[in-house]
Formats: sequence, C-alpha cells, structure tokens
Amino acid sequence: MDFELKTLNVAAAASEKCDAIVLLVGEGFKPGKDALSALAGEALKARHLETKPGRLLQAYRAAGIAAARVVLAGCGDGSGKRVQAAVQAAVGALRTSGVKRLVICLPADAQEDAVRAAVSATAESTYVYVATKSKPEGRELERVTIAVADATRHRAAFTAAKAAANGIEFARELGNLPPNHATPTRLGEEAKKLAKAHGLKVEVLGPKEVAKIGMGSFMSVAQGSDEPLRFIVLRYNGAAASEAPVVLVGKGITFDSGGISIKPSQDMDEMKFDMGGAASVLGTFRAIAELKPAINLIGLIPSCENMPDGRSVKPGDIVKSLSGQTIEILNTDAEGRLILCDALTYAERFKPRAVVDIATLTGACVVALGGVRSGLFSSDDALAQALLDAGDTALDPCWRMPLDDEYADGLKSNFADVANVAGRAGGAVNAAKFLQRFAGAYPWAHVDIAGTAWKSGGAKGSTGRPVGMLVQFLIDQQGTAPPKAAKAGAKRKKAA
Ligand code: BES
Ligand code: MN
Ligand code: ZN
Repeated sequence: MDFELKTLNVAAAASEKCDAIVLLVGEGFKPGKDALSALAGEALKARHLETKPGRLLQAYRAAGIAAARVVLAGCGDGSGKRVQAAVQAAVGALRTSGVKRLVICLPADAQEDAVRAAVSATAESTYVYVATKSKPEGRELERVTIAVADATRHRAAFTAAKAAANGIEFARELGNLPPNHATPTRLGEEAKKLAKAHGLKVEVLGPKEVAKIGMGSFMSVAQGSDEPLRFIVLRYNGAAASEAPVVLVGKGITFDSGGISIKPSQDMDEMKFDMGGAASVLGTFRAIAELKPAINLIGLIPSCENMPDGRSVKPGDIVKSLSGQTIEILNTDAEGRLILCDALTYAERFKPRAVVDIATLTGACVVALGGVRSGLFSSDDALAQALLDAGDTALDPCWRMPLDDEYADGLKSNFADVANVAGRAGGAVNAAKFLQRFAGAYPWAHVDIAGTAWKSGGAKGSTGRPVGMLVQFLIDQQGTAPPKAAKAGAKRKKAA
C-alpha cells in the first residue's frame, strides 16, 4: 500500500479524485465554506455527528465532494491516541467496500502524533494475512493520501511512520506464519533476503558454528528438535564505525511445546508466536534499512524449536552457558531465557552502547499487564526512560517493572550456578533477573512482549509489536550520547 502526505485544506481534499474520503472532526472543528466541512458542521449542529473518537457518520454521493463515499469521524482532542481510534473506526467501516483510493483529512491543527497515528492505524486495520490461504482475499486499499495543512512540517514524522508500518507488517507476516513454515531455517533465509534487498550485512550460523562458539545453553533447548537451530547476526551501519552500536536480541522460538515439561494442549498452537521477539527485530531492521538513521545497529536472533524427544534436555540437566555460568534446567518450558542468555553474552563483543532484548518470555507478564503494555525491565534509568518515551510516542507503550535483587533469590541451585526457574510468584521479574546475570557488561533492557506480540480469539494474529517502539527508540538515539552507564561499562560488573 502506498502512503502519501499532501498539503490540502478541506476544500482541496474534497475535490481530490478518490473512492472515499475520511474527514477527522475534532473538538475545535470550524466549518469553512466548502461542501465537505459544511456537511460536517451541519451534522455536528444537528447532533448527528459527535466529536467523540470512534463516532462515525457516513454519506454517499454528497454534493460538491469528489469521492462517492464520505466518512465523518470524531477524533476528540486530535491527539495521536484519538486519531488512532478514529482512523481504526473509519477505515474499518470502509473495509470490503472496494475502496482503492482513500484520502484521510486531518484536523487543521494536527500535530506530528496525529500524522503518525493516521499512518499506523490505516496500515494496521487494512493488513490481511494471505501467505497460506488457497483463495486469498486481497488488500483493497492501494493508495492512501494523508491531507494536512502543512506537509513540509510533518514530512519527517510521516516518513518514519511509513517505514515503521512496513516493519510492523513484515513482523506480523512472519509471526503469523505456521510453525511448519516459520522454522529457524526459514527465519535465517528471511534475514538473508532482507539483508540482500536492503543492503544490510548478515551472518546465519548453524549448529556446528554455535557449538564452536560454546553456546551450551542455547544448544540444549534445540537438541530435542529435528529442525536445526539458527543464530542470526544482522548489521546496519549508518554511523561512523567508531560509534558503539545498539544491539537488539530477539527470542526466536518458532514453536514452544514446553519440551519435556510439556504445555497443556489448549491454545498450544499460539506458541507459534513464540518467535515474536525475533520477528520484531527483523521488522525493525526492515524499517531502519528504509529510514537510514545515523546509528549503528546489530540484531541477534537465537532461533530453534522447543520439543519433547528422546534427545531433549530434561529437568535436572545442567548445561554450561557461553558466559561460563552453569545452569540447572528445572523446567524445560522456561526455554526463552536459555537461548537469550547466550545471545546476551555474545552481544558483549560489539561493545554496545545498549542492548535491548525482546521476548515472549512469561505467561506471568500477561497476567501482570495484559495486552496493553509490554513489560520493561532495565538496569539503566536513562535507557528505560528512552524506551518508555519511544513507546508512548509510537502508541506502542510499555511499563517499567522492578529488578530488586530479592527477586533472584528463588533462582538459587544446589548443583549449578543458577537455576532456570524460581517460584510462580513474580514470574516475569524472576525471568528478567535470570537474564540480568548475563547482561552485566553494558546498559541493558528487557522487553517482555508475551501479552502484546499477538492477539487471541477471533482476532487471533500477530501485532508486530514492539516494532513501533523500537523504531522510534532508534530514531531518538541519533546524535545522542550513549546512556551514562555505558562509560561505566569499562569496569564491568561481575555477574553475581
Ligand atoms: N513462551 C512462553 C511464555 C508465554 C506463555 C507467552 C503464554 C505467552 C503466553 C515461555 O517459554 C514459557 O513457557 N514460560 C513459562 C515459564 C515458567 C515455566 C517459569 C511460563 O510463563 O509459564
Ligand atoms: Mn516455554
Ligand atoms: Zn517460550
């Protein structure tokens, strides 16, 4: 789908050749003399239209308006969040009505957040999964024009939102693929394709190379599956080589059966989404390759299946991680942290300014935060704040969770340096505390997307989160000094 940003007032927008026009009507709406705004003015006066976000009034072949279909959509105070709700409702109402050319007319005083929201909400509500349908329904919308009072002023926000939307769509498409298609091998191939198409550097390591590096923890999860593991290393260089990179680490479990600690059958299919972290890293690279910000970026994706088998890792097994720490695996279903810990150690070699891991890590995080906000854990206040702010800006929010050392108490093992599980209470924090032991060499953040990476029920499907947050975070990193703690990175804190 093509997006364009144009300087058009309501009168000009009303004469644009298109199939449908959506006029966002906010609290401060003042009708002009043109047919479209006069229509909205009358409807408001008669109380047939409200400015409350989500409220719609539709018209057909209205006089003086080029588009056959008109949707008036209340957008409240015109903020990003309200515009998002308005566009979702309006574009939703136009679905399956054969609209190919759409104009969305933003309020005259629209800010950057409104422009971003109009682009992301349109892309989000028109996405259709087709990859494994024999008679796929196509996406009808071909071209969307965002009409604003001054396109120059909003150009940067618009371009970023468009790139993010492409990245989100890429992540959704990968996330939605069935687990017999989206294997670790396939993820490696997708990373290579992405790198080739967009001028990124990529390495895809297999079992032999990973064994040679010494990723014993990662390998133990993969050993019960017939699908060979992959370790993907992606690089984007947009700044001087001397500039320390940001490293993104994505959990790439392409199917999580639980392993020997097998999960109940109910909803087990949803564990195909357990590579949502990996998909979000690939989606973020897709967006960054398009936007080309002045940063250096590394993506690390440990990917494998977690399956029960005669060769599977067993509860009680002790493995040696790349960091040298030994891990007693008490529950094979806590596999995400076992593959991430080796990637976190591997990240040290890039001397990163920050490392952010993204993982569908714990059911406990779903209980804590539901599907609204992702869980954010960080050892570094500046990094945490940057991610929180980016999430708010991108309407892809997260919520900071604690990392008190007492939460690590349950991870003690009588037989190894650490156990891979603690008690059920505070499960999302326990998991983060496990990861923190491997992330002492740099400012680190962990984003638990177990509740936000996909939706269940009738709308079952990948959301592409948190690509929006990550892309915004990386844009914001340009030209900023690395988080203060990065300098302290020289005197590495030894993991407890
Ligand atoms: N991939 C799951 C986490 C998950 C579960 C995400 C449900 C979304 C919905 C993860 O590998 C897992 O199984 N975690 C366990 C950890 C437990 C054994 C300590 C969990 O959350 O139950
Ligand atoms: Mn699991
Ligand atoms: Zn998992």
